[in-house]
Amino acid sequence: MLVCQCNVITDREIKRIIRDLLAEDPWQLIVPAMVYRELDKRCKCAGCVPNVVDIILEVTEEYHRQTAKSPEDVPPAHPKLLALKEKGAGGQREGRSTGHRAA
Ligand code: FES
Repeated sequence: MLVCQCNVITDREIKRIIRDLLAEDPWQLIVPAMVYRELDKRCKCAGCVPNVVDIILEVTEEYHRQTAKSPEDVPPAHPKLLALKEKGAGGQREGRSTGHRAA
């Protein structure tokens, strides 16, 4: 699925980058800017940032669930990332008004 229309980045690419970052350091805070940097891309309109945050949360939780010895060892999501999700970082989705649509 295409997540970032500006840079043509798919969810598969984002998930791979997140897993690679977690393999380097499972306890680091992964933020969307790190994902873009690893892909050698720049966030342009930021419309995809909320979706990237959701993918980071999903993949990080999945990673820790797979590597934890017991379900109690799975750490909660990082508060800063949850705050980013709550805030709806990225502003307007895709940075465009709805008036541009032809249909
Ligand atoms: S949709 Fe990702 S930067 Fe615009």
